Amino acid sequence: MQAVKIVEHGDTDVIEYGDYPDPAVGRDEVLVDVKAAALNHLDVWVRRGLPTLDLELPHVPGSDAAGVVVETGKDVTRFAEGDRVAVSAGVNCGECEFCRDGDPTLCVNFHLLGEHVPGVHAEYAAVPADNLIAVPDRVDWSVAGSSCLVFQTAWRMLIDRAELEPGEKILVLGASGGVGHAAVQIADYVGAEVYATGSTRRKLEYAREHGADYVCNYETENFVEWVRSETDGRGVDVVVDYIAGGTWRDSIKSLAKNGRLVTCGGTAGPNPETDIPRIFWNQLQIIGSTMGTPGQVDDVMELVWDGTFEPSIRAELPMSQTARAHEIVEGRKGFGKVVVRPDSEL
Ligand SMILES: NC(=O)c1ccc[n+]([C@@H]2O[C@H](COP(=O)([O-])OP(=O)(O)OC[C@H]3O[C@@H](n4cnc5c(N)ncnc54)[C@H](OP(=O)(O)O)[C@@H]3O)[C@@H](O)[C@H]2O)c1
Ligand SMILES: [Zn+2]
Repeated sequence: MQAVKIVEHGDTDVIEYGDYPDPAVGRDEVLVDVKAAALNHLDVWVRRGLPTLDLELPHVPGSDAAGVVVETGKDVTRFAEGDRVAVSAGVNCGECEFCRDGDPTLCVNFHLLGEHVPGVHAEYAAVPADNLIAVPDRVDWSVAGSSCLVFQTAWRMLIDRAELEPGEKILVLGASGGVGHAAVQIADYVGAEVYATGSTRRKLEYAREHGADYVCNYETENFVEWVRSETDGRGVDVVVDYIAGGTWRDSIKSLAKNGRLVTCGGTAGPNPETDIPRIFWNQLQIIGSTMGTPGQVDDVMELVWDGTFEPSIRAELPMSQTARAHEIVEGRKGFGKVVVRPDSEL
């Protein structure tokens, strides 16, 4: 089969698209004929290489995809040939104390398809049946293949970790990103008052179309002053900050007393300066969040399938142009998701 391959860690020229051995299907696995897949910022980290990642190269990247079941392993009962499915990338051991307690995202062996093990940016992918969800016939392949990772992440952050309530004020930084645009839609759905930042006027227009009530270009304006002036000096109840480098201290400053800062990443720098006095004096909570449980995935994907939430597709490219797809994500170009489809599907 044809697959995207990271042949070494580095710039986009380490990405190839070409022959790769057909995947073997394990007892608990399903072979998916991939119709559409999507990039996440994670694909950029994996391509560049992370100190904690020791990958066998070439590595097939990719954590989001959707397609049709073409073969099932001996122990798989939930899916059959011909089913339409989407991949949910989080893998857990099912045995540790956290898995037994019902929160597999806390699994001590938690890992992601495409990050720690081979991913799904290929014509075919062998995926554990537990990592697949059914996709209704009416849903487009591009939507099915690009929603699962960012919507589950944003859902868990806002609903389960930050416990966002109707009427609360929430600030979403980087509202144009995959997670960011999902967070804006979910916050609006909850009935919160949504403040959003982005780096261009066009991105801010999109944010408004997707549910932001107030927008600020944080490239040209100080967003703390903006939040303070829009909220009569009070600040917001919740900040979503997955950028961190260059924004973290201002995120803390943007919070009202007793506010919550929720994060799932450090896109622009993982170890920013913080503000301990403000954290204790204003009694703030700093909340981490990663991916979603199977129940959370089902809850949010139901709302994607019925059209309540939608991934914005900023570009759709053949997999042979995955290097260009990486450049779009890395270059902060556009809004939402970049979809890649096997060349044989186009
Ligand atoms: N823990 C988890 O489970 C989990 C899950 C998903 C994602 N993440 C993390 O969350 C972050 C966002 O992921 P994503 O897939 O949504 O990314 P994305 O689609 O690339 O969006 C990132 C957004 O951040 C903004 N940004 C600000 N400074 C940036 C910089 N220096 N470089 C790149 N973008 C910058 C950009 O918007 P503007 O141009 O408007 O500023 C961009 O649209 C990543 O760090 C990712 O690893 C974590
Ligand atoms: Zn576990």
